[in-house]
Amino acid sequence: MRKNFLPILCLLSLFALASCSSGSDPKVAAVKRAVDVARLQLEQAAAEFDSLPGFPRSLMPKFKVVEPKDWTSGFFPGSLWEGYRLTGDKKLLSEAEKFTARLEGIQYYKGTHDLGFMVFCSFGQQQQALHDKHSAEVIVEASKSLISRCDPQIGLIRSWDFGEWNYPVIIDNMMNLEMLFWASKYTGDPVYRDVAVRHADITMKNHFRPDASSYHVVSYNADGTVESRGTFQGYSDSSAWARGQAWGLYGYTMCYRETGDAKYLKHAERIADFIMHHPNTPADRIPYWDYNAPDIPDAPRDASAAAVVSSALFELSTMVPEARGKAYFDYAEMLLVNLSSDAYLAPKGSNGGFILMHSVGHLPADSEIDTPLNYADYYYLEAIGRYLALRGLDPQRI
Ligand code: GLY
Repeated sequence: MRKNFLPILCLLSLFALASCSSGSDPKVAAVKRAVDVARLQLEQAAAEFDSLPGFPRSLMPKFKVVEPKDWTSGFFPGSLWEGYRLTGDKKLLSEAEKFTARLEGIQYYKGTHDLGFMVFCSFGQQQQALHDKHSAEVIVEASKSLISRCDPQIGLIRSWDFGEWNYPVIIDNMMNLEMLFWASKYTGDPVYRDVAVRHADITMKNHFRPDASSYHVVSYNADGTVESRGTFQGYSDSSAWARGQAWGLYGYTMCYRETGDAKYLKHAERIADFIMHHPNTPADRIPYWDYNAPDIPDAPRDASAAAVVSSALFELSTMVPEARGKAYFDYAEMLLVNLSSDAYLAPKGSNGGFILMHSVGHLPADSEIDTPLNYADYYYLEAIGRYLALRGLDPQRI
């Protein structure tokens, strides 16, 4: 979620040449058009939901509006914050505050591991924009709730309370650790960070295959040994579910930023290699929903995975030597430009107020297939912000 890449300012020089000519750069023009679309879509969706309870999530099988306890509840407020940051539009600011406030009570919820998504994408963004104490207190309380889900014997945060697993942990859970790192920095109490580091370490050991792809779900026995490895949302237990690979890439990149531990960087790079060089990736590099989907090349694409990968690779590009950094940057830029084309970017006023088309939520459950998803929009906007920052461009002056 972090926006501030200024500590690596020196690396900006890598891309200085591109920045100089941004005025007529078609890539920047594509992103500028996307920001215009995003602004209108966000305003439309916020106006529609102003007097309705809930948060827009997706369009398939019908308009899906969710309550605060849904794992995706933080993304619409988060997109409003991102939209405000990109445009300076005060209407978006007031909508962002309004929709964030709707999540106030969720800080005490202990029924999911997704508190990081829910609270850090909403109140985390608000805290970053306004530096307010209240948001900080909400984030710390949510972090307490999140670490209450960590069994000390097992050493991981339990993801779900449903299903037949003894103690399921999903790769997505890596994303929720960012809030814990923040809570330790803010409070000075290492307990949150310690839980995050242990979770990341054990996940690295048990979730990944020799080719750096990951299982979706790893379940644990009470003594911390692995009960099972498999999938819930992917094609098969041994397949590589596209969004899962994206969560892993983003998660370990973030862990390296927060700890400086080189093993996380190395791991993120291995995941990046898997994603960037996978033979089952189509020409525009927006992945199929699962790298092993049986109906490739007719399988649905997942724009949400591409958005998460793009955002993560922009950050990773700042952490490695120049040639490698450029390869990550170029790939992330290509994803961003392709997502900003007519093939994925919604025409203004369409798509139920969502920004991107063509994501997949949970195909094996026949749910949210080839639909907009609020988290695709959130990470897409984050990727745009990171891209422009790395090119030294002010989003409000492009
Ligand atoms: N965290 C659930 C998903 O990525 O669909």
